[in-house]
Amino acid sequence: MLLTGQIKWLAVLLATMVFSLCLALPLDDYRKALIRTEEMLQIGGELLLTEQEELANEKLMALKNAEITQAMKKNQFPPSMHFFRAKKLIEESKVFCVLKKMPKGAALHLHDFGILSVDWLVRNVTYRPHCHLCFTPSGNLKFRFADPAPPTPKPEGCSEWILLEKYRKQLQNVTEFDNSLLRNFTLVLEDPEIAYSDQAVIWARFENIFIAVSGLVHYAPVFREYFARGLEEFYEDNVQYLELRATLYPVYELNGQTHDQEWSLKTYQEVAQKFAKDHPDFTGVRIIYSNNRKNDVDRVAESVQIAMKLRVKFPESMAGFDLVGQEDKGHSLWDLKEALLLPATQGFDLPYFFHAGETNWQGTSIDENVLDALVLNTTRIGHGFALGRHPMARNVSWNRDIPIEVCPISNQVLQLVSDLRNHPAASLMSSGHPMVVSSDDPSIFGAKGLSYDFYEAFMGIGGMKADLRTLKQLALNSIKYSSLSVDKKKTTKEVWQKKWDKFVDDLAKLL
Ligand SMILES: *[C@@H]1O[C@H](CO)[C@@H](O)[C@H](O)[C@H]1NC(C)=O
Ligand SMILES: *[C@@H]1O[C@H](CO)[C@@H](O)[C@H](O)[C@H]1NC(C)=O
Ligand SMILES: *[C@@H]1O[C@H](CO)[C@@H](O)[C@H](O)[C@H]1NC(C)=O
Ligand SMILES: *[C@@H]1O[C@H](CO)[C@@H](O)[C@H](O)[C@H]1NC(C)=O
Ligand SMILES: *[C@@H]1O[C@H](CO)[C@@H](O)[C@H](O)[C@H]1NC(C)=O
Ligand SMILES: [Zn+2]
Repeated sequence: MLLTGQIKWLAVLLATMVFSLCLALPLDDYRKALIRTEEMLQIGGELLLTEQEELANEKLMALKNAEITQAMKKNQFPPSMHFFRAKKLIEESKVFCVLKKMPKGAALHLHDFGILSVDWLVRNVTYRPHCHLCFTPSGNLKFRFADPAPPTPKPEGCSEWILLEKYRKQLQNVTEFDNSLLRNFTLVLEDPEIAYSDQAVIWARFENIFIAVSGLVHYAPVFREYFARGLEEFYEDNVQYLELRATLYPVYELNGQTHDQEWSLKTYQEVAQKFAKDHPDFTGVRIIYSNNRKNDVDRVAESVQIAMKLRVKFPESMAGFDLVGQEDKGHSLWDLKEALLLPATQGFDLPYFFHAGETNWQGTSIDENVLDALVLNTTRIGHGFALGRHPMARNVSWNRDIPIEVCPISNQVLQLVSDLRNHPAASLMSSGHPMVVSSDDPSIFGAKGLSYDFYEAFMGIGGMKADLRTLKQLALNSIKYSSLSVDKKKTTKEVWQKKWDKFVDDLAKLL
């Protein structure tokens, strides 16, 4: 990528100059050469397809063109609509149907409690014995399993604990209540633009969802099962490997006993290994330990120390470290440099996977996170939404082959961009910038797995010319840019290739 990339650019530059100077060249040829060159530059543009892949590509592009033509006629194009309204239309799309079947490789940007559709939490978990809830004055919920009840201490800023079993018994309409719980666990509603008047409002709701869900999921038996079911959901969506940002907050038992980070990481590892054993075509999961970027430098330093310890103890599962939470409201990476430089000063290898540039406030210290992340040797850039506005960050990311993790639906729902055709990754896709596509917190956005985000990237961000090459490159990138060892990448890619060939065969045969 590094060298061929540079040569590629030079070649393009040269070709452009020669063509524009050489007036004898027919305009038409010049134009064709420019178009051809652009097609080569776009992500996957240099991939050579097999005969069978060419056939599959024709089928795919026929479906895509038909859907886009129809969308233009009706003036109703899912990627340019809010996902909450687009979801139904996406599910009717034949392209989406293909994308669901496509082996997508890895999902590299996900968070611990956003990977599983919320139905199971409501219909199974909240029906388990000893489940308590309390109401906050602003209408949010907290949950806690405990026996003997009531759990202590009484939560701050919340009503007394109420046993859910008892509460349901005195309700007129339990279905209605359960539906309200479902609404509590996602951001989905009818008029998002009105209900979420600005980013502060939606981030507050987003964080309250995490609080509500975490009371359920941090209960030890649920913790295991939630994770296993989350893996199942991604596996069914044809994803082979996950990297999960996890805060490793204390998991608790019914009697109130709590577990430390090591316990959580060990549990993740056990569940993932069992899942991989039961599904030999699944590679596994690696964890990126994450602290909140609102924390001060001392607390972040503590968590960096913990991350180093965990990395020594769990080299298989522990991929590295990140900071999470709303970037605009947190500390900049540079503010936290004292903590983040600890591993380097000790000669310790702690890979970073920083969220950076998830902001629209150009020129702020937060916006400079994309530069800071690179200065601090990040392995990938989470979102990198602001990357296009930083020519040097873009340059360094390109030259050092550090990809961005594009999460289209997350960026739209959290109000960085409304029409996904205008997503800044469009310019990066068209110039073949290193990137992967991921889904961040699909369950909270009302999505599932990885396919919805692939749909948005393929149909909206990539434009008309994104084709099977684009998709293949994105899948290949997800393995290439993962934190897996060279050996594991090789075996994961071999398994992927088999799945891909089968997928291509099926697509080529499509009527
Ligand atoms: C929840 O699901 C488990 C299986 O995973 C089942 O054993 C249990 O009975 C269910 N509980 C409720 C309350 O539905
Ligand atoms: C309970 O609420 C649901 C959903 O709002 C509704 O469909 C159902 O008819 C209600 N049932 C009763 C008995 O009122
Ligand atoms: C959350 O659930 C409570 C209890 O049913 C309800 O009052 C509240 O409206 C729900 N919140 C949302 C956002 O639906
Ligand atoms: C980043 O990597 C370079 C080159 O390997 C190294 O010299 C530098 O110390 C690293 N910086 C940090 C903060 O890890
Ligand atoms: C970006 O990187 C290339 C090397 O690939 C270098 O030649 C070029 O000058 C850089 N651009 C800027 C703006 O520094
Ligand atoms: Zn994220």
